[in-house]
Amino acid sequence: TWTAANIAEDLIEQVRTQVGDGQAICGLSGGVDSAVAAALVQRAIGDKLTCVFVDHGLLRAGEREQVQQDFVASTGARLITVDAVDTFLGELDGVSDPETKRKIIGREFIRSFEGAVSEVLGEAAEHGGAVDFLVQGTLYPDVVESGGGTGTANIKSHHNVGGLPEDLQFKLVEPLRLLFKDEVRAVGRALGLPEEIVARQPFPGPGLAIRIVGSVNQERLTLLRHADSIVREELTAAGLDGQIWQCPVVLLADVRSVGVQGDGRTYGHPIVLRPVSSEDAMTADWTRLPYEVLERISTRITNEVPDVNRVVLDVTSKPPGTIEWE
Ligand code: XMP
Repeated sequence: TWTAANIAEDLIEQVRTQVGDGQAICGLSGGVDSAVAAALVQRAIGDKLTCVFVDHGLLRAGEREQVQQDFVASTGARLITVDAVDTFLGELDGVSDPETKRKIIGREFIRSFEGAVSEVLGEAAEHGGAVDFLVQGTLYPDVVESGGGTGTANIKSHHNVGGLPEDLQFKLVEPLRLLFKDEVRAVGRALGLPEEIVARQPFPGPGLAIRIVGSVNQERLTLLRHADSIVREELTAAGLDGQIWQCPVVLLADVRSVGVQGDGRTYGHPIVLRPVSSEDAMTADWTRLPYEVLERISTRITNEVPDVNRVVLDVTSKPPGTIEWE
């Protein structure tokens, strides 16, 4: 029979066969997919797995701490954190084209993993040890939308599929490659991962970089992070987390509009709210959030976030819009 527990057992067995007694690292993003992939591989190869969390400076408020606590607490996995903020932001400097951003981020993730290898191996590095395998939480929709499925257009390069460099030195281990998100969540539960991890809303690997329309810099990230934390706070307070798939918050960094605040003219940026409902992210509908909640979010963002004087709501389904703006 097809139960999540059976699927988990099969996947664990497949990983064991593929990796043998090799060493693997797993890039953790804080999201459901990489956490479930890591938990599966840990069951298969135990402490031959090391998880690597790359702080690329494109995370939301509190995310780094959350991964360090939740994931390690529930799995006991070995975790290395790589501080790569300056590298990522340096490489992204002045870049506003969405696919270029995605490719840079995909490449820099891999460079960060490569950089972590010597730390993973420790003393074994001197005895010719190697890390041959990179575990990724790639899902079926990631493959399809990156152009990896037959007959599908390349919509956007998911950082862990179309964004990989050509000279990749790792063999990929992608146990979730044929699954959809709801199946991944079921497998995660079968593996005993807590709800804080399994029920988490999706957040893309390229992070806030693909939610800033325009080039990425510290100042814009700080602004978007602030607006995003207000949105998450208000949605949680209104008890809406379970009803939405995710709610990207987007900064239109190259757009300004005229406003009036206090007794003066402002010329600030718009923030876009993109609440969506979905089963598998392949299609989505815009979520009809209650007006009171929208009003609270709008008032708070325009009062609390400097340089933002307008909040707009994205009422586009997927298709024709994608969930993320880039
Ligand atoms: P789109 O924007 O393609 O998003 O409608 C579909 C789902 O995928 C997430 N997403 C990503 N996740 N790496 C990820 O890990 C990526 O490069 C990436 N791009 C989009 C998005 O948040 C949504 O849940």
